[in-house]
Amino acid sequence: MRPAPRFPALRERAERASFRVDGARPPAYSGAPGPGPGGGNARIRNISIELLNRRFLVAATLVIGLAVLQGCGGEYPQSALHPTSDFAHRLDGLFMQVVWWALGVWVVVWAALFYTTFRYRERPGAGRPQEIHGHVLLEIGWTLAPALILVAIAIPTIRTIFVVDRPPTDPDALTLEVIGRQWWWEFRYPELGIVTGNEAHIPVGRTIDVRLRSADVVHSFWVPRLGGKRDLVPGQENQIWFTADSVGVFWGQCAEYCGTAHALMGFRIIVDDAPTFERWAAEQRADAAIPAAAEARAGQAVFMSNACVSCHTISGTAAQGRFGPDLTHFGSRLTIGAGILDNTPENLARWIDSTQHVKPGNLMPEVRLTDQQVRQLAAYLSNLR
Ligand code: CUA
Repeated sequence: MRPAPRFPALRERAERASFRVDGARPPAYSGAPGPGPGGGNARIRNISIELLNRRFLVAATLVIGLAVLQGCGGEYPQSALHPTSDFAHRLDGLFMQVVWWALGVWVVVWAALFYTTFRYRERPGAGRPQEIHGHVLLEIGWTLAPALILVAIAIPTIRTIFVVDRPPTDPDALTLEVIGRQWWWEFRYPELGIVTGNEAHIPVGRTIDVRLRSADVVHSFWVPRLGGKRDLVPGQENQIWFTADSVGVFWGQCAEYCGTAHALMGFRIIVDDAPTFERWAAEQRADAAIPAAAEARAGQAVFMSNACVSCHTISGTAAQGRFGPDLTHFGSRLTIGAGILDNTPENLARWIDSTQHVKPGNLMPEVRLTDQQVRQLAAYLSNLR
């Protein structure tokens, strides 16, 4: 037996259809439950299932809605929605224009949908609606409207591309060379004679002329709060410019898949006020601190007598390796392993002891050291401020 449709008009139509198919005479609609044993109970059961379904839908909507709203709260250091540079503000402005257009389209579509749903819904006794084949004005309208919206979005987009691509005119611009490596970042300041790894300080309010190169594969430089992405391509120098407008620590991330540890190839851009930046730059130019405490001195001996020296530079010492990050002022950095761990002696010991566990695939080999040597090494490096 066919289940009884819920709406009388639909029911009648279904019955007419079934009459045509099986040749039986359609029963007259009486509003009573369908024939058959237990028809009334079945109807009550249908209604309660329907109510349950409705409750489930409401509950599911609430849960999903709350989960989505949850995504709007909290701390998101890599959100492009909180721009803090001229470049990032331009991108944000463009994004918001597109959002407003999309919102307008959304409102119009839903309003039209609701209007037609209620205005033209099937009512008991209503006749067949008139069918329309082609409506020239409507066809032109819904072809032209999206085209005009796309043009309205394209104009500011193209303008923004040209604006952010224009080389900086600021004669005071500071050059920052960024070299992408599997899987860390080298930062160089050619005008200041500074080399650092995974963390770059920049002065607020001054144009930063970023030169991007790669030592191996394609990486992508991205600090969402400071501007757009730009690739670091082997054998080529790319550029990006921005002027930060507030001090703070801004998270960056490699945005182009570059191998095993790509997702753990983070970095920090620290925007300082001018005096703080000058002080930092002066400290960075100095040779490494000579360890005073016995443990740190022992750590230096461990460093110098192991493979560490062949990959890392610590200026003022025999360590002049160039393969890994420069560690001259390692203790002044906020993070370890390209932005993945806070720079604490405990984390540092963990990093030295089981680097392949902390950042699988990274190119630093695990050197066999005793627990004491690991502690000493951590003490030495933490003191390189
Ligand atoms: Cu470097 Cu992804």
